[in-house]
Amino acid sequence: MRVSVIGTGYVGLVTGACLAAVGHDVVAMDDNPAKIAVLREGRLPIYEPHLAELVAQTTRAGRLRFTTDVAAAAQGVAVSFICVNTPPRPDGDADLRYVEGATRRLAEHATGDLLLVEKSTVPVQTGQWIQKTLALYAARPGLTFDVASNPEFTREGMAVEDFLHPDRLVLGVASPRAEACLRALYAPIVEGRFACPVHPDCRVDRAVPVLVTDLASAELIKHAANSFLALKIAFANAVADVCEAAGADILEVVKGVGLDKRIGRAFLNAGLGFGGSCFPKDLRAFVKIAERTGYDFTLLKEVTRLNGARQAQVVEKLRRALWILEGKRIGLLGLAFKPHTDDIREAPALALAQRLLAEGAQVQGYDPQAGAKAHEAVPALTVCPDPYAAAEGAEALVLCTEWPEFAALDFARLKAAMVRPLLLDGRNALDRDTLTALGFEVLGIGRGRPPLPPTRTP
Ligand code: UGA
Repeated sequence: MRVSVIGTGYVGLVTGACLAAVGHDVVAMDDNPAKIAVLREGRLPIYEPHLAELVAQTTRAGRLRFTTDVAAAAQGVAVSFICVNTPPRPDGDADLRYVEGATRRLAEHATGDLLLVEKSTVPVQTGQWIQKTLALYAARPGLTFDVASNPEFTREGMAVEDFLHPDRLVLGVASPRAEACLRALYAPIVEGRFACPVHPDCRVDRAVPVLVTDLASAELIKHAANSFLALKIAFANAVADVCEAAGADILEVVKGVGLDKRIGRAFLNAGLGFGGSCFPKDLRAFVKIAERTGYDFTLLKEVTRLNGARQAQVVEKLRRALWILEGKRIGLLGLAFKPHTDDIREAPALALAQRLLAEGAQVQGYDPQAGAKAHEAVPALTVCPDPYAAAEGAEALVLCTEWPEFAALDFARLKAAMVRPLLLDGRNALDRDTLTALGFEVLGIGRGRPPLPPTRTP
């Protein structure tokens, strides 16, 4: 099928490259000429595992093209995905001007029937506004537009895998024609009929569940899903605080809780809190959406409040251990909002860096991918070329983002570089018994049970 994506951010690029990878003919359009020029040169403006290879393969095969011309994205195309950004307004509401703009321009340039699909995260009832906008701006009478909501559930760092092997597909449609069109588009993914570019030997052993709903329900599913995941994390963080005070270990507690199939272990990792471009923004937007319907979503307001307190708690832990923070050097391991990405939007690590800098501490950090972006965002943060440099002269090292490579560091070397071997594991990702045995003073999150005492002198 001929498909276009409007917007080449995370969502648009992943959608375009993955649909091209399963055999569709994709035009990816963006208003930013610099971005399109970079993509045409075969470079990617973001780091996302497997995406560069996929873009290169599909571009070479002639199934993915980049353009700044909206007409090329509207004409001769059966389906157009709206993947533009929906930034938060000061009151938390989503700013939908780019969604409206994309809709209007597609309507003005379309020459045949077109299905417009909301892929960006939008408030419930956006679909209705898109329908009205299409009717108003259609290039000529008689054109048939369909509107659908097809929320994405991909995680950054896992986006290609999540897109090609989703837990479910949600198709919010207003007509049987839109449903048929989306079912045909996704058939290779639902039935596993494509050569997986991520795991070439992978086999899909079950069809992907497809949930067909009305437009409004599909729109709400997205906000409800993200809010529930954020709620799970906030709950684990709250239980972690109780564990810490009560002498229990959060890792044991979430293991025991998560073994209940009704609950599940995922998204119960306590730590520095959640960040990124989705959870914080979507929570605030969902509170706003609910407010408009007359419901005061105090539960989600509390999730936001609890999450915002996580970094201050870590500062407090450091203060208890080091007394005065002013003038002390503190190293941070991991600056991205989560591993496997260079995205620093609402990164808990940077919020922590800013708090420590405000206390007068000297903060130095390392991240495998996000160093440059982190330095740009927080110029007072010294970005180091490797983890050992981030430990140099430090009185404490805080693990902020659990990149897997941090578990395999040479901790003896790290300890030797530090002034005081205090390690605060802000994601409970390291083996604290091993570190204690090496002579580190280890602090975690919600780990009230003390580590095993050192068995040998380091
Ligand atoms: C999230 C959702 O997981 C995706 O399903 C959704 O499609 C996406 O938002 C979106 O709306 O576009 P993402 O923000 O990429 O994906 O990252 P997550 O893996 O969900 O992590 C979000 C934050 O929660 C990170 O800061 C992570 O460190 C934190 N987190 C996650 C925890 O603190 N504890 C956990 O147990 C899990």
